[in-house]
Amino acid sequence: MKAVIANAYGGPEVLSVGEMARPEPRANEVLIKIYASAVTQADVMMRAGTPWFGRLILGLGKPKAVVPGTAFAGKVEAVGVGVRRFAIGDDVFGETSVGFHAHAQYVAVPEDGVVETIPLTMSYDQAAPVTDGALTVHNFLTRLVTIKPGQRVLVNGAAGGLGTSAVQLAKHLGAEVTAVASNRNGDFLRQLGADHVIDYEREDFTKQVGRYDIIFDTVGKVKFGKAKRALKQDGVYLSPVLGLGLLFQAFWTGKFGRKTAKFSATGLLAHGELRKRLAEVKLLVEDGALKTIIDRRYGLDEIAQAHRYVETGHKRGNVVLEVAHEDVAMLAAQ
Ligand SMILES: NC(=O)c1ccc[n+]([C@@H]2O[C@H](COP(=O)([O-])OP(=O)(O)OC[C@H]3O[C@@H](n4cnc5c(N)ncnc54)[C@H](OP(=O)(O)O)[C@@H]3O)[C@@H](O)[C@H]2O)c1
Repeated sequence: MKAVIANAYGGPEVLSVGEMARPEPRANEVLIKIYASAVTQADVMMRAGTPWFGRLILGLGKPKAVVPGTAFAGKVEAVGVGVRRFAIGDDVFGETSVGFHAHAQYVAVPEDGVVETIPLTMSYDQAAPVTDGALTVHNFLTRLVTIKPGQRVLVNGAAGGLGTSAVQLAKHLGAEVTAVASNRNGDFLRQLGADHVIDYEREDFTKQVGRYDIIFDTVGKVKFGKAKRALKQDGVYLSPVLGLGLLFQAFWTGKFGRKTAKFSATGLLAHGELRKRLAEVKLLVEDGALKTIIDRRYGLDEIAQAHRYVETGHKRGNVVLEVAHEDVAMLAAQ
């Protein structure tokens, strides 16, 4: 099978595409023929080996997992002994988490991992980015906080992978949503459901005083110390971008503060918890409350270009890696 290979940390040039043996599903595993994956900020960080402490898990001198990628959508090709949840031919999506190996034509995953049948309304391309964007946002906006109708929620980085899901979910939960992005994304975000849009190049939302119940800085550009003035007295600052400062503030404000900061590493939650949440996200998708915004699509051979684009930090929604298969191409040509 074809797979992306990364034998070293570094720039996009460390990525190549090569041939390797197709995995065999072991007991309680399903073999998935992947049609789409996503290229995420996490993929970029793991390729670069930054931040350095991440290498304690990923591999000190070089990545332990030669094939990168965590998100997948595709079809169950084979099942191992004892598999009950899925059958050959099922369309599924999910993530391999620290198992990686999703930037390839096939991956084997445990049936009790983060895997679910694809929402009825979604294509493979739309399903693949869900675990990085919508599932993460679901964790932040329904587990770390409880949004009450009418509350004011500000989403910073609103046009990105997490941001586009956050605007939709906060709106669905009844919040008055303020989206912060550059001017080029203003109309797009209003159409997505934002009640107000702030162009960060013209206006600094942190100059507002006591306005928001929740500030969700999806891109970690505005630290808690600066953002907190714009929070109401019991307001909550959320950010998915790990930093020692945020970890300390989350600990400190959790004990002593009225305005609190919160962080979560969604991918490290127990698989059972993530699977339950993925099923809830699937229902939201089928209800029309959440949709995947796709910015660009790349083929497996274009993996380095995909990384370069994601690395700009200005994607709108998600970047999809489309995974071609020769038998599908032959069928299409007939
Ligand atoms: N903790 C977790 O569980 C978890 C899970 C998944 C991801 N993450 C992390 O979450 C972060 C966000 O990921 P993502 O995929 O959403 O990022 P992304 O899609 O790459 O973010 C891009 C967006 O950020 C906006 N942006 C850039 N500079 C900005 C600024 N100064 N102010 C406001 N918006 C700005 C851009 O809008 P404009 O083009 O309009 O500037 C663009 O649409 C990453 O660091 C990722 O590693 C954490």
